[in-house]
Amino acid sequence: MFPNRERIIEHYRQVLATNDEQLTCCNPVYPVQEVPEDIAIHSLSTLQPLNHCAINPNDRILDIGCGAGADCFLAAYRGGRQTRIIGIDIVEELICRARELKQKHNLRNIEFIHAEVPPLPFENGTFDIVMMNYSFHLIEHKSSILGDIQRVLVTGGKAIIADSFTPRNLYTIAGEGNWFMAAGGAIAEEEFKALSKSSGLLVEHFIQEHLPFLPEGQVIGYMICKKK
Ligand SMILES: C[S@@+](CC[C@H](N)C(=O)[O-])C[C@H]1O[C@@H](n2cnc3c(N)ncnc32)[C@H](O)[C@@H]1O
Repeated sequence: MFPNRERIIEHYRQVLATNDEQLTCCNPVYPVQEVPEDIAIHSLSTLQPLNHCAINPNDRILDIGCGAGADCFLAAYRGGRQTRIIGIDIVEELICRARELKQKHNLRNIEFIHAEVPPLPFENGTFDIVMMNYSFHLIEHKSSILGDIQRVLVTGGKAIIADSFTPRNLYTIAGEGNWFMAAGGAIAEEEFKALSKSSGLLVEHFIQEHLPFLPEGQVIGYMICKKK
């Protein structure tokens, strides 16, 4: 069964608390040298979508399931002051932490919104880039989120979905405790491509990341999509 929103919120509250104890960046591909250390330790993924996407100075960027904002901050440092970035997440504590870090580092071009998605609370054609760093598998209504991403992108805009993809859809896996570790909710590569296509997003590339600890049959990587 897909975990309900309370279960997801509780899990990521715990992740934040654990992070606060460890104070190290656990993401092997997060570019820790590019941002202050107190931001880098908040990367909650094992992937880095912005390593596969150039940012132009005036780009408007949306990060869905932004956590405490590690990728939003990276986008701000890479893109410069004219870049506009919005991060959105369902967990209030993560958004509060992101706002504290924004204030501390005086990054005025980022905004953080506390909300559950879908739907995305933005006008059509608002963003040049939409990224999801390991949050797509946690969204139950995958067609809705892909359709909404297509809607809020400008024509020619890019979506980068960094996540696990599996041989079969993992909507249900045994053991609630394993759900998060085993990327419950992940879908097959081919299903992702089919859903994207019917949402009007063309998958241009699928770039795999080779990490040593993946369960057999699971691949992890970046779906680079373009709005036609
Ligand atoms: C694995 S964490 C990744 C966080 C962040 N992208 C990063 O790389 O640090 C997944 C995030 O997705 C968020 N999330 C899950 N379901 C969501 C939903 N329906 N709406 C908004 N955020 C959601 C969680 O709260 C969590 O912060």
